[in-house]
Amino acid sequence: MLFTLDTLPQAAGARLAVIGHPVAHSRSPAMHQPALDEEGRDCRYIALEVEPGEVAQAFRLMRELGFIGCNVTVPHKFDALEACDEIDEIARDFSAVNTVRFDADLTRGTNTDGYGFENAVAETLGLSLKDLSVLIVGAGGGAGSAIATHCARAGVRKLLLVNRTLSKIETLADRLRERHPALIVETLGSDAIGEITADLIVNTSSLGLHEDDPSPLPIAALKPHHAVFDTIYKPTALIRAAEEVGARHASGHLMLLHQGIAAYRYWFPGSHPETAMRRGLGLT
Ligand code: ATR
Repeated sequence: MLFTLDTLPQAAGARLAVIGHPVAHSRSPAMHQPALDEEGRDCRYIALEVEPGEVAQAFRLMRELGFIGCNVTVPHKFDALEACDEIDEIARDFSAVNTVRFDADLTRGTNTDGYGFENAVAETLGLSLKDLSVLIVGAGGGAGSAIATHCARAGVRKLLLVNRTLSKIETLADRLRERHPALIVETLGSDAIGEITADLIVNTSSLGLHEDDPSPLPIAALKPHHAVFDTIYKPTALIRAAEEVGARHASGHLMLLHQGIAAYRYWFPGSHPETAMRRGLGLT
């Protein structure tokens, strides 16, 4: 069931939520509730529709109602950063908050999206990010910036940032070069892609959300030695091309699981929610 700020006070037993706009499609309640139930926590996890500009108000209301915390999804991750009293170093580096905890004294925020990406890549492709060369296509959006930032923090050797609009990735590239002097950062327009020298190719563009979307990269550039990770949950033209060429490939659905595990542990340190969460997502 979907709640709004007006109906939130009637959400009996609700102590956790995912906020977004729109949020009705979110699988976070189905993932978190089984873990809460299995651990015997008397706590309901709900989806809460929050209009743009109302994130601080949502936090105040959730605090008043005794909420433990919330997850934050598109388009509220930056507003959530501003609305927290305290953010950790990861959220600051990402300029985005995806997980919030209402402690007695302060509202605290972190970001578990990078952890989710790294663990999904490890589980699906068997790759560790350290020392890898990574191409990110669609680096101009929020997801691309988060994944590029995490790759830099995780110690990749080289980042190749690719975007349809080149001007949109220069600031990100400069910031990463400044913070990680040993990291090689290159930028390229999507139309200038020739041979791809990267080990791992990641799609963070929105190309693939629609059935007939083309691949964000020229398919001829894919080779069997590449590993391809698409942050979009369903099979895309890029994933189909990787399959055809014999490259290792994975879609993004495990990112949801792994960022969720880290969020749950932010609220309940020392807990073991993974098995129940996998069951909730139909992954077992
Ligand atoms: P956000 O994640 O901030 O909401 P977005 O508008 O969803 O951003 O776009 C995410 C990424 O997908 C961007 O890198 C965008 O490229 P531009 O910066 O050039 O807009 C990319 N993208 C969206 N539609 C695209 C398309 N038709 N072709 C190529 N890239 C596209």
